[in-house]
Amino acid sequence: MPFLFTRRNKAKGKGENIVLPQHIGIIMDGNGRWAKKRGLPRSAGHTAGAQTFRTITRYCSDIGVKYLTVYAFSTENWKRPKEEVDALMRLFKQYLVEALTDFKDDSIVVRFIGDTTAFSPELQKLIRETTEESKDRDGMVLNIAMNYGSRDEILMATKSIASRVQSGEISVDDITEELFSSGLYTAGQPDPDLVIRPSGEYRISNFLLWQSAYTEFVIMDKLWPDFTTEDLDKALELFSKRNRRFGGV
Ligand code: IPE
Ligand code: IPE
Ligand code: MG
Repeated sequence: MPFLFTRRNKAKGKGENIVLPQHIGIIMDGNGRWAKKRGLPRSAGHTAGAQTFRTITRYCSDIGVKYLTVYAFSTENWKRPKEEVDALMRLFKQYLVEALTDFKDDSIVVRFIGDTTAFSPELQKLIRETTEESKDRDGMVLNIAMNYGSRDEILMATKSIASRVQSGEISVDDITEELFSSGLYTAGQPDPDLVIRPSGEYRISNFLLWQSAYTEFVIMDKLWPDFTTEDLDKALELFSKRNRRFGGV
């Protein structure tokens, strides 16, 4: 459940209570348009977006968010031109090397959701090392969704359950929402309270379909590379005013 935290309201210069989501998801979208507007290659937008990712991750950790899930690369993003995919792979590598070397004293737990077996052996090694290096930390959990697709994830969980039923380990009646959730990449983590999508697109693009059954969505017009901590504050403020009923009254 979300909890209360006090945040200084710069405009009013006084403290105010807002409900902070425990788990935030971000669809980091709009890098390509940001670059196009400037006459730059799309890869320049991804480089700028990676910087925003660093800033926003740090900020979420500082204000006490418990789980942050960022959508970095979807199962559909392989369709993009090879040079763009290559540029993204280089940025992932750069970030992971940095996370391993510079962030040694960090409190952030870094996890990966998605089918990481599709990445190069070098990237897979960095993914394993980053996960291992950070797993015993006590700070915010950062889920990086890479080669993530929610339909793919749901199929993975379904196949695993089907084979357990087939082998007689469990029966059909044992299949509950809890069992199903435990077969997803996000097993053991709370569902996102808030998903933010910058760049003004009103769609979910295969992100956390099962997990977002009762998630609040905030769509913002800013392109991801232009997204600031003030924009995150704005999203948090909108979220704190939502009346979440979960089907009740
Ligand atoms: C999001 O920005 C980054 C990834 C999908 C990897 P886009 O590259 O989708 O940017 P737009 O939507 O084309 O502007
Ligand atoms: C969603 O953005 C995936 C990521 C941000 C990683 P896309 O740009 O791929 O989504 P669509 O194609 O606009 O739906
Ligand atoms: Mg996009």
